[in-house]
Amino acid sequence: MKGFFITLEGPDGGGKTTQAKLLLEFLEEQGRPGLHTVEPGGTEIGRAIRALVLNPRWRQMASRTELLLMAADRAQHVAEVIRPALAAGLVVVCERYVDSSLAYQGYGLGEDLRLIDQANELAAGGLLPDLTIVLDVEPATALARTACRTQRDRIEGRGLEFQARVREGYQKLCAAFPERMHLISAEGDVKAVHRRIAELVASRIPGRG
Ligand code: TYD
Repeated sequence: MKGFFITLEGPDGGGKTTQAKLLLEFLEEQGRPGLHTVEPGGTEIGRAIRALVLNPRWRQMASRTELLLMAADRAQHVAEVIRPALAAGLVVVCERYVDSSLAYQGYGLGEDLRLIDQANELAAGGLLPDLTIVLDVEPATALARTACRTQRDRIEGRGLEFQARVREGYQKLCAAFPERMHLISAEGDVKAVHRRIAELVASRIPGRG
């Protein structure tokens, strides 16, 4: 069986982890074993990079440094986890991937989108998702969902305007790549959002055999 690569994207507090878990249960029921993974931090090396890149202590981190740390995390993740899983025929469900770099470091921080494409190319070696689901949510709703966390990380702490630029970036990416990227409203009931995701995935994923 051929592997299938799904990425979940969207703002912090959009419910990606909950939806990834529900999607994996759905896939299992369909007889398609999956692998749940995340960026940044899907490998041991990646978890060390995550701790560095999200640490609020590093207020002076340049946006270019942030971009390259995300790319380094991705390079390790693609080599160690994603490519082997796809080669083994698994459905990979990955929270965040190349589009996070475009939305956050590009639309959010203003880094040159062409440079980000190059960093993504370097990290992922051209491996693009078969399907990308962007969970769209009002920045204020998303921020409220992360408010209960004891300490916001360096990127979450950037506030509403930043999150609004990220959201707009995702919307532009979805418009530019309508085949691969789909915007799904993440407001409201968790189960209703899951049903929308499951329907989309079922219509895209090739049958077994
Ligand atoms: P994530 O683990 O999804 O955060 P949370 O679980 O708190 O929602 O992602 C951590 C942060 O990293 C998030 O604020 C988005 C950011 N990020 C980028 O800025 N660029 C990237 O390329 C990636 C993968 C993540």
